[in-house]
Amino acid sequence: ASVLILNGPNLNLLGTREPGIYGAQTLKDVEALCQDTAAGLGLSADCRQSNHEGQLLDWIHEAGREQAEGRLIGAVLNAGAYTHTSVALHDAIKGTGLRVIEVHISNVHAREPFRHHSYLSPAAAGIVVGFGTEGYRLAIEGLHRLATTES
Ligand code: DQA
Repeated sequence: ASVLILNGPNLNLLGTREPGIYGAQTLKDVEALCQDTAAGLGLSADCRQSNHEGQLLDWIHEAGREQAEGRLIGAVLNAGAYTHTSVALHDAIKGTGLRVIEVHISNVHAREPFRHHSYLSPAAAGIVVGFGTEGYRLAIEGLHRLATTES
């Protein structure tokens, strides 16, 4: 089985983007960490990034079908700023039943008030916030644990 790693807007800039907040690791580094973590659990990681909300929606729909067929355990989703704006992403997670762990590299609750609300959290199975890029590893491990105890 596989795990989908979905990164949203501006996460392609990791490494050079506000390194004081997001760290020095690039998206490539994060994806390698995810591959490594997944492999350790006997899974393969399907890593994707898009700056486009509609593309993320299409991938979530596809993932929902794969999860239903037992080929995917769920998704780790860092939706970037769409976290705070997107009812459509909320609806896609709810509508597909996709098992999602919401990830934020930074502790969004210690930042600007507009980052304190997430449209995704009510639809997520779990949330990992503020652990830096290590959060992706924790999220994959948590997702694996949930998926194996649920099904
Ligand atoms: C983020 C936090 C969001 O508020 C921000 O818009 C991002 C990254 C994080 O990983 O800390 O793009 O999701």
